[in-house]
Amino acid sequence: MDKCILICCLLQLSRNAAAVFGAVELENSSTARIDVLPSHLPSPLTLTPSTPSITHFVNDSFIIFCKTVHKDVDTKWRDPRGQPRENTKGRVHIEKKTGQLALVFEHISLEDKGNWTCEMDSPAAREPRKSFELLVNQKISFDKTEQVQSVREGRDALVNCFVHGQPVPEVSWLHNGEYINTANSSKHKRLSDGLFIKNVSQSDAGEYTCRAMRITPTFSDSDQITILLRIQHKPQWFYNETLPVQYAYVGGSVNLSCDAMGEPPPSFTWLHNGKGIVGFNHRIFMADYGATLQLNIRNASQFGDYKCKVANPLGMLERIIKLRPGAKPIGPTRFQLKRLYPDAFELDLRTPRMTNVSDEMQIYGYRVAYISESDFKYSAGNWSYAKQRDFSFHRGHRFIIPHLEGNTTYLMRAASRNLAGLSDWSSVKIFATAAAASPWHPYRWCIHVLIGLALFWH
Ligand SMILES: *[C@@H]1O[C@H](CO)[C@@H](O)[C@H](O)[C@H]1NC(C)=O
Ligand SMILES: *[C@@H]1O[C@H](CO)[C@@H](O)[C@H](O)[C@H]1NC(C)=O
Ligand SMILES: *[C@@H]1O[C@H](CO)[C@@H](O)[C@H](O)[C@H]1NC(C)=O
Ligand SMILES: *[C@@H]1O[C@H](CO)[C@@H](O)[C@H](O)[C@H]1NC(C)=O
Ligand SMILES: *[C@@H]1O[C@H](CO)[C@@H](O)[C@H](O)[C@H]1NC(C)=O
Ligand SMILES: *[C@@H]1O[C@H](CO)[C@@H](O)[C@H](O)[C@H]1NC(C)=O
Ligand SMILES: *[C@@H]1O[C@H](CO)[C@@H](O)[C@H](O)[C@H]1NC(C)=O
Ligand SMILES: *[C@@H]1O[C@H](CO)[C@@H](O)[C@H](O)[C@H]1NC(C)=O
Ligand SMILES: *[C@@H]1O[C@H](CO)[C@@H](O)[C@H](O)[C@H]1NC(C)=O
Ligand SMILES: *[C@@H]1O[C@H](CO)[C@@H](O)[C@H](O)[C@H]1NC(C)=O
Ligand SMILES: *[C@@H]1O[C@H](CO)[C@@H](O)[C@H](O)[C@H]1NC(C)=O
Repeated sequence: MDKCILICCLLQLSRNAAAVFGAVELENSSTARIDVLPSHLPSPLTLTPSTPSITHFVNDSFIIFCKTVHKDVDTKWRDPRGQPRENTKGRVHIEKKTGQLALVFEHISLEDKGNWTCEMDSPAAREPRKSFELLVNQKISFDKTEQVQSVREGRDALVNCFVHGQPVPEVSWLHNGEYINTANSSKHKRLSDGLFIKNVSQSDAGEYTCRAMRITPTFSDSDQITILLRIQHKPQWFYNETLPVQYAYVGGSVNLSCDAMGEPPPSFTWLHNGKGIVGFNHRIFMADYGATLQLNIRNASQFGDYKCKVANPLGMLERIIKLRPGAKPIGPTRFQLKRLYPDAFELDLRTPRMTNVSDEMQIYGYRVAYISESDFKYSAGNWSYAKQRDFSFHRGHRFIIPHLEGNTTYLMRAASRNLAGLSDWSSVKIFATAAAASPWHPYRWCIHVLIGLALFWH
């Protein structure tokens, strides 16, 4: 009995001693170096792979084995926080086989980086643990970087670029493809989350390239993102020349247009004689930088002042177009074929002078609509599928409809144009293009040259 107690006491003592040793070694375990204690025995633990530090990218998979020579001794893995890992399922788990304990990373995440330690449960053993350092690299990414950014004119601004990556990449900037020297510039500064621009002006607008690059002893890579920078400014007219007076006639229609740029894109509002426009006789075609008011004039009360208001948070513009009654033009009284080409018609169009209206209201040109007979049948006789060509007298009095198919029948109609709009359409005429001659026919070639010359001289 006494002997037994003595043995128990001895055992306990040796355990305590081992525990003390263990504690000392734990403090030293941050050194990946193998602890060398005086011994002539081979190391009881080996890691495969055995390099003290191992580099992987996020999402890589990786397995490391911890082998022990004492097959009856339990081993376990500790994570970088010192917590034992015993789970056999999950993203990072343990797979146990006799004599070896695998640590499996199904896909590595950034949080896995640090020193992982395999240790034996037999603390009395010499050198009871081995560590390796897992280094985790992360691909370069730009996270929530907006690809369109807008900053205010006259202020200091930051073009945001949120670069992520492990190791952290070096960032450089280009503006419209030109390298920006930030080293010694009062205009541009490179900050951790973007490019600082002092006193932004319109010339700072454009494409900024945020380029991230890194070169390490084991790899190098780069990536970039292009950011469109818009400069916020108050609305400005696209065109200086205005049409302060436009004309229409009752029964006709007119387009009043209002085009202005601005950043953010401005809103457009149309008013008639100071009031909102109501009723069915209008449509507004909105575009990014303009709004066209299409009016179908059904009643003389629709004439008057049309005001277009353009506004964004930085400013406002307005313009008034006076809509006055004009004379409805009379339609063409002559509409016939003047010359026939394999792929074009030259038309003869005439309209007499209107004696009862001012010079200003005389017609200044024509609109011709045309559609091939087969398309016309296909669209069930709907003229809105026809092509149109507008002619103005100031560009000459030859009316040629080019780019037609050869040997094809076309339906055509024409209307006169004056400042107040379009006349009624003429009756529909049917003309056919000449049958296409063989391509090598010298005559055809000759005609093309003549058309070309004719068009050139005009
Ligand atoms: C770690 O071990 C070395 C000898 O291997 C020793 O000199 C050093 O004091 C130890 N460090 C700590 C923090 O115990
Ligand atoms: C892991 O151990 C190495 C060597 O002891 C040390 O230099 C490194 O800082 C440790 N890494 C971490 C993340 O603690
Ligand atoms: C890692 O993989 C997950 C899905 O498997 C994916 O959503 C994630 O974007 C990947 N991360 C990286 C950095 O490639
Ligand atoms: C920046 O410019 C100043 C004055 O032009 C000059 O003295 C300085 O050396 C420059 N620094 C660098 C890093 O180029
Ligand atoms: C900002 O730039 C404009 C010209 O683009 C200049 O007129 C103005 O004085 C500058 N403002 C400041 C504070 O530098
Ligand atoms: C409009 O006119 C102003 C001066 O009257 C001029 O500075 C500006 O460049 C013009 N803008 C356009 C688009 O023609
Ligand atoms: C007005 O604009 C619309 C849409 O752009 C167009 O279809 C129509 O022909 C125009 N009206 C006139 C009279 O120019
Ligand atoms: C024209 O409009 C006015 C006011 O909207 C209305 O009083 C008048 O009856 C209209 N005239 C015709 C012919 O529709
Ligand atoms: C002018 O005369 C034409 C006929 O030549 C007529 O149809 C038209 O209504 C008249 N216009 C005006 C404004 O009197
Ligand atoms: C002709 O086609 C246009 C466009 O598809 C359509 O809006 C219009 O209602 C059609 N007109 C007829 C009379 O079918
Ligand atoms: C012209 O078209 C008609 C019918 O579409 C066809 O019969 C004729 O052979 C064509 N002529 C030439 C020269 O292509």
